[in-house]
Parts: sequence; C-alpha cells; structure tokens
Amino acid sequence: MNLLIKGGTVVTATESFVADVAIQNGIITAIGKNLNISADKVVDATGKLVLPGAIDVHTHLAMPFGGTVSADSYLSGTRAAACGGVTTVFDYPIQRAGQTILGLINSKKEILEKEACVDYAFHCCITNLNDGEILDEMELAIEEGITSFKCFLVYKKEGMMVDDGTLVKLLLRAKELGAMINIHAENPDVIDINIEKFLSEGKTSAWYHYLSRPEYVEAEADKRAVHWATNLDAPLYLVHMADKEGLETCIKAKENGKKIYVETCPQYLEFTCDVYKRADGRNFVCSPPMKGQESQDSLWKALKAGFIDTVATDHCPFQSYEKDWGKDDFTKIPNGCAGIENLYPYMLDAANSGKISFEKAVEVCATNPAKIFGCENKGSISIGKDADIVIYDKEKDFTVSVKNMHSNYDHTIWEGKKLHGYPVQTYLRGTLVYDNGDFLGKPGTGKYIKRGHCK
Ligand code: URP
Ligand code: ZN
Ligand code: ZN
Repeated sequence: MNLLIKGGTVVTATESFVADVAIQNGIITAIGKNLNISADKVVDATGKLVLPGAIDVHTHLAMPFGGTVSADSYLSGTRAAACGGVTTVFDYPIQRAGQTILGLINSKKEILEKEACVDYAFHCCITNLNDGEILDEMELAIEEGITSFKCFLVYKKEGMMVDDGTLVKLLLRAKELGAMINIHAENPDVIDINIEKFLSEGKTSAWYHYLSRPEYVEAEADKRAVHWATNLDAPLYLVHMADKEGLETCIKAKENGKKIYVETCPQYLEFTCDVYKRADGRNFVCSPPMKGQESQDSLWKALKAGFIDTVATDHCPFQSYEKDWGKDDFTKIPNGCAGIENLYPYMLDAANSGKISFEKAVEVCATNPAKIFGCENKGSISIGKDADIVIYDKEKDFTVSVKNMHSNYDHTIWEGKKLHGYPVQTYLRGTLVYDNGDFLGKPGTGKYIKRGHCK
C-alpha cells in the first residue's frame, strides 16, 4: 500500500517546510517538493501541518492501583491514544516480589497483541530485586527490548517503594547495561507524618492531598535521586517533574554534563494546586500533586529553554465512583488522572498560541522520547522511519469533553478545555487510524516495539 501526503508543512524537531511525504509499506520513503510518485491513495494536506505521531512514554493502562484497576484497558487506552495523535505508548507494568521481569512483561504482551490500537513498549517498574535475581534478569530483559526500569521512591505502604540501596544497585546495573532508571520522586515518610497530622485534625478534603505532599516533599526525593545518579555517573530519567526546587537541581546537573533527563506532564503545565480547593478537587488527585504557580512557571521556562526533555501523560484515570471513595478522606482517592488523548492537542495548542514553537512540541512529544528510550524507527518525519503521522489543522477549534474522548473513563480533568487547532488524522505505520473524530483502527494492529539501548 502506497500513500502520498501532499503539500503539507512538515514539522520536525528542528525545522518546518512545505513538502510531500511518500509512504510505502508503512515506512517513509521520500520527502520533497512536488514528488512525482504514483500512490494508491493521495491525501491533500495543503494548509495543514504534517507531524510525527506522539510517543506517550508514561501510561498506566489496566493497572491494579489504589484498591482498584485504572479505568482504561489496553484497548480503550490505545484507542484514545490514536485519536489524540499518539502512535506509540509506553506502559508501566509493576513487578512484585517473586515475579520476574519477563514473566510480567510477557503476560502484558499477550493482552496487547489482541488489544493494542497503536504501537507499544514497556518500562518495567521494579519493586523487589528477588535476592538479586532481577539484576541478572535485566540483561535478558534488555535483549528483549525492555531497556528502561522504573523505581518508586514512594508508595512505601503499598509495597512498591525501593530503598536507596536498591536504587543504587539498579542505577549501577543500568549504567553497565546501557539501560535507564526512571524515578518517581517523593518522600513517603514525610507524606505519612503529614497525613497522620491532617487526619487527626479532621482535615480530609483533597486540598490536604496537596498539603501532605507539597513542593519540598518532591524536591527532597528529586535531589536524592539526582545525587546518587550524578555521583555514580549513571543516567537517570525523572518522571512527572512538578516542582521548581527539584527541577533546578536537575538543570544544574544537566549543565554539568550529567545524563539527567526530565519529563513533565500537561496537567502540571495547565493546573496549579488550587484545583484541590474545588468541589471536584478529588478528580485531580494524582501523585505528585499539582504544585503552586511558581513551580508551574518554572516548568514552562525550563521547557522553553530545553531543560525539559519530554512531556508525557502519566495517564491513569479512575471512574467518578472510585474518586468518590475519598470524598471524606483524601487518602482513599485512587491517585491518577486522564491525559492520553489530550497530550499532543494540548502541546500543539501551546505552539499554535505562540507559547512554544511547533518544533518544540514535536521535540518533547515525539523526537526526544524516541531518542532517549531507543525507538530507532520512531519520532520523526524522516526517510526510513515508520510512517506514524498526524495531520494537524491549525484552525480547527475543539473543546474537550468526556463525550468526545475515546477512553473508558466517565469524567476528565480536561473537561471544557478549549483548544485552537486539533489533529484531524492519525496514521499508524501508514494506515489511517483516526479521521476527524472517528477511530478507524483495529485492536491488535499495534506492534510491540523492541527497543535499543537508552541514550
Ligand atoms: O497519581 C499517579 N501518578 N498515579 C499513577 C502512578 C504513578 O505514580 O505514576
Ligand atoms: Zn509516578
Ligand atoms: Zn505514573
């Protein structure tokens, strides 16, 4: 099947130019002005942007968490991804004591083989080294294309936290093997002290979720993780960065040439902790929580200056009735929010309004994620890459509502968000999977991406 996308403005991480894009068997084969190539199908993209599909490197689909399971299955989550211009998702299966990495990943692969509507890869969360066996198994996992592993410095009571000794062992092993350690940085002991105090005082609303894990709680753990990684000269990727002080430590380390990578999420760029004062504040409960205006400003500043490497979603939605468990006790609210279908439209809207450039949106949503996490064939409109392509209409107005999303959840923190410009088509390896509001893909067509070494 040949496809020719004609006359659009191709956007890469470094430049934009008007060109035709030719695709053969799912691969980009030519880019140039007025290509004289016959094709089975010609798409007129005149006046539109032609962008690489986004890579959402942070999702939690069908994940057991917070006393339930996150609301999007692998099918609905990847369907929504396609409709938001995301053509590859990275999921985070959580290994538990006694479990092997490949045992866990293979069980997820079996489901995704049937359900995936876009391509997929895995970071594996390690919670227990199984007496050191996991350190050996990491080598095998890397051969299978799982080249990044996540550690939680939080969720201690949930049995998911790793201590500093374990983190250091993982950092050293990852360095040796050319892999990456991803970190969720918050300090659980301080959170627990704060929670105990607030509950004993009858302070139970969502606002106290924020106050029990404010800026300094994240910053301490960010700094600790950066401290170990920089002193061991090991690469480190900080997920969902939300606070200024931690971010500044990362920026310093980057300026000193250290391999410290920073991810933030659209929710931290859009909302501040004030959302937790709202009557529906519990719907915004995620960890780390949204922070104050100063932190949000620092995220935008760092993004523009090139210190934020990726923007990903941490997509982990729950239904309203589950969020309601915490109506009278914020500790009972399952942590996590939706975002997979909003990531690219949100960042592109920021570009359309002049806040950032379109090249920057492409860089942090597609090109950098592919480079950092070893997806050789993804992340850019260039010859030889997979034809994961989004056609974007800069003039199309769109208001986000749970009714026009393609997930399984029954509410979204993005309800009512007005966007100027919106993706109108998504192609997955040359096949149209989203067209003007409609999902056209097929579950099971997404492929496992066997990744190379991390950057
Ligand atoms: O609140 C969140 N972020 N839930 C998902 C799990 C995690 O911590 O990333
Ligand atoms: Zn996390
Ligand atoms: Zn997460």
